[in-house]
Amino acid sequence: MRTIALSGATGFLGCHLLASMLSAGDAVVALVRGDAQPATRRLVRALHFVDVPEAAGHLESGRLRVVPADLHRRRLGLGHDAFQELADQTDEVWHSAAVTDLETPLDVVSRVNVKGTGEMLELAAAGRRRPRFVHISTAFVAGGRSDGLIREDALDSSHGFLTPYEESKFHAERLVRAWAVDGRRALVLRPSMLLSDRPPTPRGPRHPHAALRMRLNRLAARGPDYIAERFGVVPDERGRLLVRLPGRPDGLINLTSVEYAATSMLRLAQGDSGPGTTTRHVVHPADTPITAWLNAMSAHAPWVRTEIVPRLSDPTCLDAYLASLLPGADRYSHHRRRYERTTLDRAEDRDGVTPPPALDAAYLAAALSSPPRRNTQTPTHV
Ligand SMILES: NC(=O)c1ccc[n+]([C@@H]2O[C@H](COP(=O)([O-])OP(=O)(O)OC[C@H]3O[C@@H](n4cnc5c(N)ncnc54)[C@H](OP(=O)(O)O)[C@@H]3O)[C@@H](O)[C@H]2O)c1
Repeated sequence: MRTIALSGATGFLGCHLLASMLSAGDAVVALVRGDAQPATRRLVRALHFVDVPEAAGHLESGRLRVVPADLHRRRLGLGHDAFQELADQTDEVWHSAAVTDLETPLDVVSRVNVKGTGEMLELAAAGRRRPRFVHISTAFVAGGRSDGLIREDALDSSHGFLTPYEESKFHAERLVRAWAVDGRRALVLRPSMLLSDRPPTPRGPRHPHAALRMRLNRLAARGPDYIAERFGVVPDERGRLLVRLPGRPDGLINLTSVEYAATSMLRLAQGDSGPGTTTRHVVHPADTPITAWLNAMSAHAPWVRTEIVPRLSDPTCLDAYLASLLPGADRYSHHRRRYERTTLDRAEDRDGVTPPPALDAAYLAAALSSPPRRNTQTPTHV
């Protein structure tokens, strides 16, 4: 049985990775921040979110262990001996933890996403079994590049970055590449934007779309009259409120279900990826039109009419407010770039797996918007 040291197992993607590893028969040491007991409770809650009710059994049998670890701290906050012991027990290090908030300033986000990656690399470097390092990056390290095909081996900063998060993940990948020399092995997995049509649980893992969905839902619950008055917008002849986003109407974005991403990551990690760094995109075979993404966000507010316009020189207060909830979205909506996924295509072919169909309107509505609440309490702010 392999032993995997996994960071970020309480996260939205991380808990799906953990569930997949457990069901594949691996032993997992989950590196979770906080004291052991609360860390374990949070991990068990995350496993319930992904329907792994036997979490307690895995903990009891020792196939799942929780080690308190903080990426902010030297050697993850572990003593020298504990760090070495963990490193020596590990066959593979999977690093999924990150600060995923798009608005966090670069110096703050880098402390975890870059420096913390450095601590995880040290863990892999210290292990006597020479563990492979599997780094969860993002397809968004491509930054501001809006067109063309992004190759899996490309790592290029010349187009700049749309958010500090993207930039920090770019620097983390550079660190991984610099580490993977002298026979060391690194596999970099780059998922696109992850979603789930599963309703968010109150204390389960959160993710950018869940937070956005909550805020949009809170706003939508106030109804069209309140919003028209609050933001000074005039409904059209059918009583609908117009929301505009600057971009290209033929824009595309790659959205992937988190369940598919986790399974694909384990598929791509099967076997040895060889010395040096191997990079793989974990993206959906069909890109989603930006218009479908935007329509899905207002699916449960039929009194909203969305529109993508080439330029937005006269934003209404409502346009500006919604843009502030989606940092970088006005720039993502100019994208038509695509991602190479040759290796995932081949791996699916090898395993006789049918790639998923395009995400349809019903899936997107379930993933990106919430039905109106029955008891609408007055929110404290919108
Ligand atoms: N979600 C997406 O759409 C998406 C898309 C592309 C790439 N990715 C990448 O996929 C990975 C996983 O994302 P996710 O969606 O699971 O993120 P998430 O839900 O925000 O979870 C982040 C995880 O990182 C942990 N973490 C944050 N700071 C830490 C610290 N100082 N020490 C230890 N652990 C820390 C969190 O622990 P706590 O529970 O203690 O907060 C949590 O487990 C990330 O590397 C992200 O960049 C995500």
